[in-house]
Amino acid sequence: MIGPSRFTDEETYRATRLPVDLASTLTPAAYTSDEFFDLERERVFGRGWVGAACASEVAEAGDTVVAELAGRSAIVVRGQDGVLRAFENVCRHRGSRLLEPGRCRLAKHIKCPYHSWAYALDGRLLGTPLFTADSEVPVDQRGIFDMEDVRDFDKADYGLLPLPVEAWGPLVLLSFEPDPPALADQLGDLPRRLAGYGLDRFELQRHKRYEIGANYKLIAENFMEYYHLPWVHPSLVKVSPMKAHYRWQGHGMYTGMCTSPIAADTEDGGWLGLPAIDGLNESDAVSARFAWVFPNVALNVLPNHIFVMLTRPEAPGSTVEDTYLLADPDASATPGGEAAVHGLHTFWDQVNREDIEIVERVQRGISTTSYAGGRMCYRFEEPLHRFQNMVVDRMVGIDRVPPGDDEEQVPMFPEPHAIAP
Ligand code: FES
Repeated sequence: MIGPSRFTDEETYRATRLPVDLASTLTPAAYTSDEFFDLERERVFGRGWVGAACASEVAEAGDTVVAELAGRSAIVVRGQDGVLRAFENVCRHRGSRLLEPGRCRLAKHIKCPYHSWAYALDGRLLGTPLFTADSEVPVDQRGIFDMEDVRDFDKADYGLLPLPVEAWGPLVLLSFEPDPPALADQLGDLPRRLAGYGLDRFELQRHKRYEIGANYKLIAENFMEYYHLPWVHPSLVKVSPMKAHYRWQGHGMYTGMCTSPIAADTEDGGWLGLPAIDGLNESDAVSARFAWVFPNVALNVLPNHIFVMLTRPEAPGSTVEDTYLLADPDASATPGGEAAVHGLHTFWDQVNREDIEIVERVQRGISTTSYAGGRMCYRFEEPLHRFQNMVVDRMVGIDRVPPGDDEEQVPMFPEPHAIAP
């Protein structure tokens, strides 16, 4: 536990707590300071639910993802019994890291590289070589090891340390709290809003990792506003016209907006290469839904595919982002389906690289100048205000799920749109 700090003091965030039309952004130290980062690990990522993997990565028995999340390491594994579990990535003997970060498929057990203690995929300690009489001591060496002195040791007491884990749609979320609030409470009405898409039907088509020289919050905040589209994304703004953006925000720890309707693809690409899935309602069939699931995942849900951006903070100015393109396997298997998936991935990659370039530029700006935070543009940056205040809540120790609109979709701001497409 880190002691008192100005970053846990409500007064530090006075300008961000103001109503959005008067508010300023978070203090730059929130993106650059090691002290803030350490507290954020504890108070934001160490509590509640955090995105850890794509559900498709752990679909089959033995599928394993080792997720490094803000200083913690977790093993997410699908057991031989089909149950998804998560564990701290630490051996119960002398504390070695068990597995390296990344993806793998384990046959039957997790073996520690230090003294070879072995754990079942459900976390049970199976073997403690040369330690207990029933362990893997080679027959010809058993005389050397006198097991009679091993006292008060029961393997049942030394299984892997479990973590709460749940899958929802394309996401696997876990918690470093032993007894977190229900995931449903954190997600609020988002699962209901996306229920028509049948999120479970989408399967992984592409995965790409980006190493980004920016704080994860800059990536989040860039994602949740469309103010920058005309200048940063000349291709994207053609299929996601400025005037087609709406607030799409219910209660829950997420920010939501949508483009409705999305526009046809252009010579620069777009989102419509694959056919839309069946059974969507009139609005879902023509819209793109964009949700930032607090604290670290972007969910882009379109009529024909899903694009997930999962961020893992490594340092104040460094983030690993894994992206996942998912589609209905029946659609991607049709003639032209593979080319359409490739086109979608190319388009998203282009948009993402444009975003990365600008957020890295912001990181350099706030790190090296006397900039002290900027005034929010209420027309476009209400989602940032919502997100930043969720971060502040956690930093100062407030448990709160923000409210939202009763209507499904409303104008992003109350004035008539005055911006050309
Ligand atoms: Fe893992 Fe010793 S630390 S077996």
